[in-house]
Amino acid sequence: MVIKHILVLFFLIFQYSSAKVTYNVVTFGAKADGRLDTKTAFLKAWNLSCASTTPAIIYVPAGRYLIASAITFSGQACKSKAITFKIYGTLVAPSSYNAIGNDEVWIKFYRVNHVTISGGTLDAQGGSLWACKSSGKTCPKGATTLGIYHSQNIVISNLRSLNSQMFHIILYACNNAKLQGDDCVSIGPGNSNVWIEKVLCGPGHGISIGSLGWELQEAGVQNITVKTTTFVGTQNGVRIKAWARRSNGFVKNIVFKQVTMVNVQYPIIIDGNYCPNKRNCPNDLSGVKISNVVYEDVHGTSATQVAVKFDCNKGSPCNGIRLKDVNLVYAGKPAVSSCSYAAGTASGLLLPTSCL
Ligand SMILES: *[C@@H]1O[C@H](CO)[C@@H](O)[C@H](O)[C@H]1NC(C)=O
Ligand SMILES: *[C@@H]1O[C@H](CO)[C@@H](O)[C@H](O)[C@H]1NC(C)=O
Repeated sequence: MVIKHILVLFFLIFQYSSAKVTYNVVTFGAKADGRLDTKTAFLKAWNLSCASTTPAIIYVPAGRYLIASAITFSGQACKSKAITFKIYGTLVAPSSYNAIGNDEVWIKFYRVNHVTISGGTLDAQGGSLWACKSSGKTCPKGATTLGIYHSQNIVISNLRSLNSQMFHIILYACNNAKLQGDDCVSIGPGNSNVWIEKVLCGPGHGISIGSLGWELQEAGVQNITVKTTTFVGTQNGVRIKAWARRSNGFVKNIVFKQVTMVNVQYPIIIDGNYCPNKRNCPNDLSGVKISNVVYEDVHGTSATQVAVKFDCNKGSPCNGIRLKDVNLVYAGKPAVSSCSYAAGTASGLLLPTSCL
């Protein structure tokens, strides 16, 4: 009896100590030459990490690792408490766009919990697809580089995403996610409690919440913070975008703060009437309710005169917009702000003058 108890105690101490198990993808046959497909090696490392009852590290040494087709890391049957990808190298997609161009996502995490991705580079080699698209030929839509779906407790830090075919990163229906040091980000329906910090974005479309409101029944987005972020030469800075369609979706409790804009076309924008080519928007009014959005300490330069634009609609006006210390200039001339169906408060230094 005594011995059994001691063993149990020993086991518990072992469990709660910082003991971690490390799986190096190279030991599963991955070669860092950028030519051999290393997908199976990554999946073997994932499967073992997922089955491990101690926290696991998937270690990716320096070098280039080809992931030749779309890969899914599924957490559905995992026993693990935590899995960390420690990446020193680069994961590369094939240079020919067809390999992943018809997939929704190149690297996908599905129903995972407590996953950290730390360091490393993802290179989707999207150049050939972009060349195809600009030549006017018929080309695949393109894959998002990294997609995290229906997951919880996600941390992504110091990850670089290069040459994506579509979006760099998509979070979909995730709870508790923290992104640090990444490129531009898009936050879709159903995401809550997301912290985005120290992102350098540009060129690109900026950081967007949306598009939302495509579906009639749609999960909302709430408690998103975007902090200490710089946009350089992007189309948008911080954007909220909702389709001009009927929907019960919503966006609330959003904070954008300490944001620097360098020559950004639409630094602060809520586009609540999104409907490209006026197609698929039968009643032209967005149902998505947008409320409690804070913009604090947003400064820099706008590439167009309308530096602040809140374009909401009669069907669901924007409420609780708060501007504090916004200083955006346009080529030496005064920038302007434009509001439609937007209400809220403004304080501190405000350039352009608030239209709320
Ligand atoms: C990983 O686990 C899944 C699910 O159990 C299995 O289908 C797959 O074959 C495994 N892959 C490898 C490379 O071991
Ligand atoms: C909001 O999200 C943050 C993480 O970004 C979390 O720490 C905080 O508890 C959340 N707040 C609420 C009210 O859920």
